[in-house]
Amino acid sequence: MHHNRQHKPRSYDGEDEKLLTHPSFNDGLYIAVSSQKQPWFRSLRCLLCLHMIVVACYTALFFAALGYLSRRQTHDPPAIINTLAQPAIRLTSKVFDVNPDVAESSAWRYAGPPGYQLDQAWNELLNHSMIRLTQDEMRELGREAEGVRLTDSSGYLGQLTVYHNLHCVQRLHRFIHLDYYFPNITDTEYKLLHLHNVHCLDLLRQAVMCQGDASLMTMKWGTTDPVPLANSESPHQCVDWSALDGWSESRYVNVYEPGLVVHPTLGPAYDKSAPHGDIGVVVDSGAS
Ligand SMILES: *[C@@H]1O[C@H](CO)[C@@H](O)[C@H](O)[C@H]1NC(C)=O
Ligand SMILES: *[C@@H]1O[C@H](CO)[C@@H](O)[C@H](O)[C@H]1NC(C)=O
Repeated sequence: MHHNRQHKPRSYDGEDEKLLTHPSFNDGLYIAVSSQKQPWFRSLRCLLCLHMIVVACYTALFFAALGYLSRRQTHDPPAIINTLAQPAIRLTSKVFDVNPDVAESSAWRYAGPPGYQLDQAWNELLNHSMIRLTQDEMRELGREAEGVRLTDSSGYLGQLTVYHNLHCVQRLHRFIHLDYYFPNITDTEYKLLHLHNVHCLDLLRQAVMCQGDASLMTMKWGTTDPVPLANSESPHQCVDWSALDGWSESRYVNVYEPGLVVHPTLGPAYDKSAPHGDIGVVVDSGAS
């Protein structure tokens, strides 16, 4: 943008110069001058001057408008917290999937009956949860001293909150299907799991209120009940998930890499050999 600002006016000057010194143009000019002398020459120069002034004014106005617009764009919406992912935040309009035929909707994929495919879908969704932050970034956040440093010195462990919220949704789904995910759960383990999910529920309540989806729902009449039904065709202002997920992917850390995430006194943090949904993991994360 600044590049153009410096070079565009110059190229206009260049064109005008070329016009004046172009042999055929000058030839025509002198023929005209020889018959009518100064007035013709003067008026042509004036015309060119006027042309250049108009071009210069237009160019100045154009860049002023461009500058104003780009400033408005970067401040709208204003970022009041520091997120490194800001460049990956792209707003997009989206109608939610509320297909009444549950088996045909995303509800089936993420909230349907448990099984291998559903677990895989969640694994894919959460795969880029854990990311690497550089030492400089941790310093900027004021978290360098208390951060979890990777043993290969490549940086610190981090996560975008959206993945944590998603993880909570997954937990609640697992809690609904206790028999499948926690077949031999003890009373103590159940109490811990329950407590953790109560935290998750309230975290999601706060997240939903924080994100304040202000898209308008209209109502419509149904055919079987006099109560107005929500029209879910309204578009929502959403982040472009693949852009945000791509940002996280670019900083992906495989926490199961042996010896990469190690507690200073308690040893390795993640063990891939432990089955997913294992109660040990629940008890462990219940402490955090
Ligand atoms: C998770 O993402 C990483 C980084 O893109 C990729 O290498 C890995 O194969 C993915 N794992 C799964 C289970 O999708
Ligand atoms: C649960 O207990 C049953 C019988 O007590 C056992 O056969 C089964 O392997 C256990 N399942 C898990 C995941 O530990």
